[in-house]
Amino acid sequence: MAKKQDKKTDKEVERAEEPVADLTEADAIEELARLAAEIARHDALYYRKDDPEISDADYDRLRQRNDAIEARFPTLIRDDSPANRVGAAPADGFGKVTHAVPMLSLGNVFDDDGVHEFVDRIRRFLGLDAETPLAFTTEPKIDGLSIGLRYEGGRLVQAATRGDGYVGENVTANVLTIGDVPNHVKARDFPDPFEVRGEIYMSHSAFAGLNAEQERAGAKVFANPRNAAAGSLRQLDASVTASRPLQFFAYAWGEAANLPADTQWGVYEAFARWGFPLNPLAKLTTALDEMLRTYREIEEGRAALDYDIDGIVYKLDRLDLQERLGFVSRSPRWAVAHKFPAEKASTILRDIEIQVGRTGALTPVAKLEPVTVGGVVVQNATLHNEDEIARKGLRIGDTVILQRAGDVIPQILGPVLDRRAKSAKPYVFPTVCPVCGSHAVREINPNTGKEDAVSRCTGGLICPAQRVERLKHFVSRNAFDIEGIGEKSIQTFYDEGLIQSPPDIFTLAARDADAEEKLSEREGWGETSAQKLFDAIAARRNVTLDRFIYSLGIRHVGEITARLLARNYGTAAHFVEAMREAAKDREGAAYSELENIDGIGPTVAAAIADFFGEPHNVAVVDELLKDVSPQALEAVDNASPVSGKAVVFTGTLEQMTRAEAKAQAERLGAKVAGSVSKKTDYVVAGPGAGSKLKNAKDLGVEVLTEDEWLKLVG
Ligand code: IVH
Repeated sequence: MAKKQDKKTDKEVERAEEPVADLTEADAIEELARLAAEIARHDALYYRKDDPEISDADYDRLRQRNDAIEARFPTLIRDDSPANRVGAAPADGFGKVTHAVPMLSLGNVFDDDGVHEFVDRIRRFLGLDAETPLAFTTEPKIDGLSIGLRYEGGRLVQAATRGDGYVGENVTANVLTIGDVPNHVKARDFPDPFEVRGEIYMSHSAFAGLNAEQERAGAKVFANPRNAAAGSLRQLDASVTASRPLQFFAYAWGEAANLPADTQWGVYEAFARWGFPLNPLAKLTTALDEMLRTYREIEEGRAALDYDIDGIVYKLDRLDLQERLGFVSRSPRWAVAHKFPAEKASTILRDIEIQVGRTGALTPVAKLEPVTVGGVVVQNATLHNEDEIARKGLRIGDTVILQRAGDVIPQILGPVLDRRAKSAKPYVFPTVCPVCGSHAVREINPNTGKEDAVSRCTGGLICPAQRVERLKHFVSRNAFDIEGIGEKSIQTFYDEGLIQSPPDIFTLAARDADAEEKLSEREGWGETSAQKLFDAIAARRNVTLDRFIYSLGIRHVGEITARLLARNYGTAAHFVEAMREAAKDREGAAYSELENIDGIGPTVAAAIADFFGEPHNVAVVDELLKDVSPQALEAVDNASPVSGKAVVFTGTLEQMTRAEAKAQAERLGAKVAGSVSKKTDYVVAGPGAGSKLKNAKDLGVEVLTEDEWLKLVG
């Protein structure tokens, strides 16, 4: 799966890898800020969108690093420290519920030592010696989502998600449809009020069934059971939740009029009597070695369970001691989660295949001998890019270690070198696109001056993997802007084989005249609408040269660069000829002229030369120019009354589109900006103008109506 990575500068990357002990105070300030932002972003993806980008293990590492830096620099702890926060603020769409007792989280430990420390800390805090027996409940940590169920008079009156721990979402209507959750508890000793807490989850078998159904229906397929459970619970229509197979385990409580027992285990027994499902693997353990033994037993049986668990939770059994221990920041001192290590397996790397994405990125995908990791059969894993393969030192035929960490995105950790066969072959990353045969290049990042990790196909206009996206760009508003052809219709024309590449747009009418099935006879079309479309296409044969250049979708060539090129080269013929020359010889005069245009640097020049270096692309441009005659941009009118003025358009314009207004203003030598400042000369405000208009007034900038503006520019 392609991950959206947040862009880090080299310095940040370096700092993110620096051992905590080596950080200076200045580094720590920046690193804590970065971690707070990054953890908050991942929390939002996980809790609000149910669509995490990183593995649970990687997420835990971010939190551990944050904790370690805070421990070393306690004075630098931020107000928005992730350590004081769990989850993410509730999403819009559901009512909000303030939890009477906050729904906090658990601290994590990752090995036996961590469990020893946890128990020792409790003893120290309570002043107990090593001999005093302490009982703990030992139970699986269910990988679902936590829920608080409030009962009044024995009836379920409110169900709320955890949200940020303090305010969650009201999902009562949805939870009422879950069979495992009693809607009415009749037991006489059931406290009033009482809030039962626990985990909503989806079993593997239910998950597989749901996904099969979703796929049949062409609906969203869920990445893992947890996301499926979260997505199913947070449906605005409760009848959808009712149709989803959700389950529940009880393991905690919130506000309670009184408690049925004075131990955790005793409360669990009452839960069971009252009809709440308890996890069958939960047990009461009385010594540390028994806790660790139970951990290992459950871990061994984990793959055979029909639901995901990601660790074991130990809770001190006596409630009076829990009370004395209390909480530290976001977690109780009396409970801890002992996380399972990521599940690993070894298998054979059979091949590496290249997938070409819609934007032309070449992504290597490992083709593996199918292997089961954590109950899921894995046969593909992304290798991200060329450098990643080199860094891991992978060869085709290698035995590799695969890891699946609490989620479904499998990772290859590396080869098992002592099992490397003589026949194992180093992988040579392709220099041409496997889909269209165009060159694939790694660009130089203009910010760092280093080569990008990603290889991209340069055959944008002809590469089947990228065609539809390119066509959409070609017809978009700031490119050819053909009335009647938008994203949707271009997709339909593509799917029906009528338009495969941009020149086909301009031959559509002629081909239609000879076609057996005319456009006007197709569903959704008639004589008039077909003719209107042909007319709209014909009307755009004379687009301005800057739009023409922009429409080609050359990497790094946005509207502004396209305008620079159009102004510099004047005519399409001159532009194309010069670019061909530039592509042929990067030492030559044409390339140097291109690179020296004010506003065009080496990265843009290289991207343009790469594009025109592909004969396929040039063929498409030549083909297009048979049917299209781009118009030279009018020379900038230095005599115009708005020449050199800074203008901001805001609100709805009624006589022209925003894009037209902008183009006109620029033609007349004005500079069009997106926000108002002291330097702004005019703000042209239409109906619905908001903050920009207010800013203009505050700053004393002249405000014009659309009519006044038109009068001004003549
Ligand atoms: S006890 C005050 N027990 O893990 C602590 N939590 O990281 C209350 N979880 O938010 C939580 N299984 O969603 C507890 N057996 C279990 C659990 C469990 C899963 C989840 C729960 C909680 C998170 C803590």
